Amino acid sequence: MTTLRKRALIKMIGLSAVSMAVLTACGKKEEAPAAPANAPAAAAPAADKLKVGFMYVSPIGDGGWTYQHELGRKAIQEKFGDKIETSMVESVPESADAERVMRDMISQGNKLIFATSFGYQDFVQKVAADAKDVKFEHATGYKTADNAAVYDTKTFEGAYLAGIVAGAMTKTKTVGVVASVPIPEVVRNVNSFVLGAQSVDPSIKAKVVWVNEWFAPPKESEAATSLINGGVDVMYQNTNSPAVLKTAEERGARAFGKDGDMSAFAPKAHLGSAVIDWTPYYTKVVEDMLAGKWQTGNYWWGVKEGAIDLKKIADDVPQEIKDKVEKAKAGMKDGSFAVWTGPIKDNTGKEVLESGKVADDAWLRGINFYVNGIEGTVPGAK
Ligand code: GUN
Repeated sequence: MTTLRKRALIKMIGLSAVSMAVLTACGKKEEAPAAPANAPAAAAPAADKLKVGFMYVSPIGDGGWTYQHELGRKAIQEKFGDKIETSMVESVPESADAERVMRDMISQGNKLIFATSFGYQDFVQKVAADAKDVKFEHATGYKTADNAAVYDTKTFEGAYLAGIVAGAMTKTKTVGVVASVPIPEVVRNVNSFVLGAQSVDPSIKAKVVWVNEWFAPPKESEAATSLINGGVDVMYQNTNSPAVLKTAEERGARAFGKDGDMSAFAPKAHLGSAVIDWTPYYTKVVEDMLAGKWQTGNYWWGVKEGAIDLKKIADDVPQEIKDKVEKAKAGMKDGSFAVWTGPIKDNTGKEVLESGKVADDAWLRGINFYVNGIEGTVPGAK
């Protein structure tokens, strides 16, 4: 990360703390400070602009999940200029607060709302049923409506690529994951990371600690500590903050960034960051809206579409492993390689995907088991 970017991030973290304190239902308009009464007319009258609201579950300074959505919002604001007016509300819990914030966004004239966390799903459905003239985009859910689409990134592809690196770098042959909320997406990511590690060394074992939240830095840190104390020396995480990486830095372990480029938070521990880029999808949605051809649907973009990539692989990772990552990536792009190709066994020894079979999206969306080599059981799984 350049010094400038580091400074920008630090500034953002500072801003975020302030904006968390003043969280209200009203939504902040970063791009459009209130104009004095006698100010000259803006280039395009506000009424002509498409108003777009973003709702975030954690602070924009989380350095990960929400930070990346915020970069996407800023990118579309920049690209579409005065054709659109974006705003965002951060740190909105996955509760009735989400409904309140969306209704408030609607009352302020937003016609497109991005709800960027899984647990917003039922609130999106409820509000969308009442506001038919507004389009909703829900990240990572599975329920759609005529005016509500879902979208996601194939984060499991990034997890697999990180796993390849982990498989080469673990000395204890035990990798670990700090996991967030036990939904199929996160279980799939845990498994994909382990499959990547085992593609380098099939004897590798894994441990998982769940924190049951997306953003809880102290808990994420405690979970990382318990993994290290249990013999793990390389960690992945599915939480929103860099706490796992920071803990690895303090304890002499190694770890990955997820969602955002987290290299600046732990220069020694950082092995790579599985970075999501929401900008291509947000650009497509706004283009569709402006052209009057927005459609509901279920969009799941991955390495192929430029939505996820493993970035900043550490210098001490052997070249042959970097090449293996590049090869897997190339296969994901041209369709010749799929992470979930059989034979795959669960951790009871049962074959869950037969030899040569490639899992389809419906199968991937239902994963609720651990693959061979992971200790324990998925929370809530029968
Ligand atoms: N909300 C915050 N982080 C995440 C994430 O990683 N996945 C999903 N589905 N929702 C989130």
